Amino acid sequence: MAGNRTLTIIKPDAFNSGKGGQIIAHLEKAGFKIIATRVMRLTESQASAFYAVHRERPFFAPLVRFMTSGKCMPVVLERSDAVAALRTAIGATDPAEAEAGTVRKLYAESKERNAIHASDSDENAERESRFFFPESELV
Ligand code: CMP
Repeated sequence: MAGNRTLTIIKPDAFNSGKGGQIIAHLEKAGFKIIATRVMRLTESQASAFYAVHRERPFFAPLVRFMTSGKCMPVVLERSDAVAALRTAIGATDPAEAEAGTVRKLYAESKERNAIHASDSDENAERESRFFFPESELV
């Protein structure tokens, strides 16, 4: 059965240009409830660990540089069928390919500076939520 929680990160491009609040409002309108959030600047070691699955990809080093370039906002969200619903709400990785009305179409600059991250499975949603938040904040 699909889980009801997922993890998003409002990335440094969107957060630093003052789009965090609008993106959160967009997600709340799409039926998501905020369970936990914080504002932080990732260290190189945290960004490398979070994106370890992409370690061998050519975009890994620029991705880590981008994700550590300013503050970001990890958020645990709750809704029915959360992982799929969030991925629909944010749109394709490349904003040029994202559907009208999605977060990335509205707020992303490019395939790399794409405003927002979303977990791609229930298992990763759980793992990524624990990456940022202690169990006590996820009740
Ligand atoms: P995200 O959903 O956070 O997961 C991995 C990130 O790597 C992705 O968003 C983009 O920011 C980045 N990314 C993925 N593919 C590319 C690519 N081809 N070129 C540059 N960045 C990419």
